[in-house]
Amino acid sequence: MLFTWKEDFSVNIEDIDKQHKELFRIGSRLYTIVSLKDGIDRYDEIIEILYELKDYAEYHFSFEEELMKKYGYDGTEDQIKAHKKFIEKVISISEEEVDIEQKKMGMDLILFIANWIENHILKSDMGYKDFLNEKGVY
Ligand SMILES: [Fe+2]
Ligand SMILES: [Fe+2]
Repeated sequence: MLFTWKEDFSVNIEDIDKQHKELFRIGSRLYTIVSLKDGIDRYDEIIEILYELKDYAEYHFSFEEELMKKYGYDGTEDQIKAHKKFIEKVISISEEEVDIEQKKMGMDLILFIANWIENHILKSDMGYKDFLNEKGVY
């Protein structure tokens, strides 16, 4: 199941785990809507959730970047670059395409978002876990 939280995703920092869980919640709402098979047009809802995801991701990324900068984590620049790329990708999603091919675009998007978030947490965010925990950040 996509967007299911596992303990493996925990970076052992309360605020960040909460924010990551919120990203999963927004993602699963998108998944639920795209999976509905009632034939009702979901365009407005899909776009609305996409923007919600973008806004929340921006909020989370700034929070994370500030924390990394504050403690002088050496992977900060790579994180900033990766975060920026993700936001650009979400912004670049063609609203017209979502309208024409709702189900397909919706599913492609969900897979991209789910994979990106999972990989990013497991590979990039995990990199600061011990570093920040050792500085007393939980
Ligand atoms: Fe990150
Ligand atoms: Fe993160």
